[in-house]
Amino acid sequence: MKQTLLITGWLWYIGSHAVVAFEQAGYQTLIIDNLINSSEESIIWIEKILGYSPLYFEGDICDTLFLENIFSKYSIDGVVHFAWLKAVWESTEKIWLYHRNNVSGSIALFEVMERFAVRKCIFSSSATVYDPINAPEYIEWQSLGTTNPYGTTKLVIEKLLEDYAQHAHWSIISLRYFNPIWAHPSGYIWEIPNGIPNNLLPFVFDVASWKRAYLRIFWDDYETHDGTGVRDYIDVCDLIEAHKKAFERLETGFIALNIGTGKWKSVTEMKDLVEKVTGTYIAYQVYPRREGDIAEFYANSQKAKEYLEWKSETSLEESIKNGWNFIQKKNV
Ligand code: WQD
Repeated sequence: MKQTLLITGWLWYIGSHAVVAFEQAGYQTLIIDNLINSSEESIIWIEKILGYSPLYFEGDICDTLFLENIFSKYSIDGVVHFAWLKAVWESTEKIWLYHRNNVSGSIALFEVMERFAVRKCIFSSSATVYDPINAPEYIEWQSLGTTNPYGTTKLVIEKLLEDYAQHAHWSIISLRYFNPIWAHPSGYIWEIPNGIPNNLLPFVFDVASWKRAYLRIFWDDYETHDGTGVRDYIDVCDLIEAHKKAFERLETGFIALNIGTGKWKSVTEMKDLVEKVTGTYIAYQVYPRREGDIAEFYANSQKAKEYLEWKSETSLEESIKNGWNFIQKKNV
């Protein structure tokens, strides 16, 4: 009997990758997304890969009635919870929107899950829950504490999930993402945000494909090896493989795992890599540091390697080629 997973949100990027991966692994997926940062175009791209359209419902996880209709119609075995707004700097400008969408929406979802005795959850958390005092290498036992509303919402939800694990015997794995990047090897799905890309790589690719004139490098005088921001960029397909392993590994209780590569690159190094792969010069201008940014962080992902028997396999160069493949397909 196929297990049924509810996939909440992030349809425009990681949610789409999760749907493809779980469907190809023999699960049935149900997608819900309020399209606040997505478009139904993603369903078309998913259909090109799977050969069929997955079950998709447009709605808001804050809408309890919407959720109850789905939970009463389908026998759901577990939830992969992505439904997030996720731009660090944007969260400093739209605090209420991040609190409402991320926290209130999750509270409503968890209430309905408990009411229908759906007690298995893979939660899309983030490296932003760590207190930056621990930077640059983040490890699960370190102190938590956030510098931006986005990170606060992730931390609050982890705490709520710990309550469900302890007092309602839920099975929860919280995957703390570092910096997910790039595209599905098919070239059909990638990060398709509405509006101006928040993240580094979609913006660099916009410059490489002549959509934008230059890259804004947010500060070049950090205390890093070349002065620009340093991050742990992990291929989105490796990240999704960790979700599959996590769902198979679920047991009663709550555990948080770092999902990163343990390697790191600066903004300048990533720009140079894209230039190498695409053969295109990436013009740039140095801007002041961005609200909410910190200089450098990357994962110690040993715990995920041991607990999930998983590690990131895809090289940055291969990821960039997948991303460029998508851009060229999309711009045809
Ligand atoms: C990366 C680096 C910027 C854009 C991400 C996710 C967030 C969370 C944590 C998962 C920084 C610099 C960026 C640009 C630039 N992950 N930059 N010019 O802020 O690390 O957050 O990881 O939950 O969801 O968004 O990622 O790609 O925005 O920035 O110079 O146009 O690139 O300063 O050093 P960030 P990012």
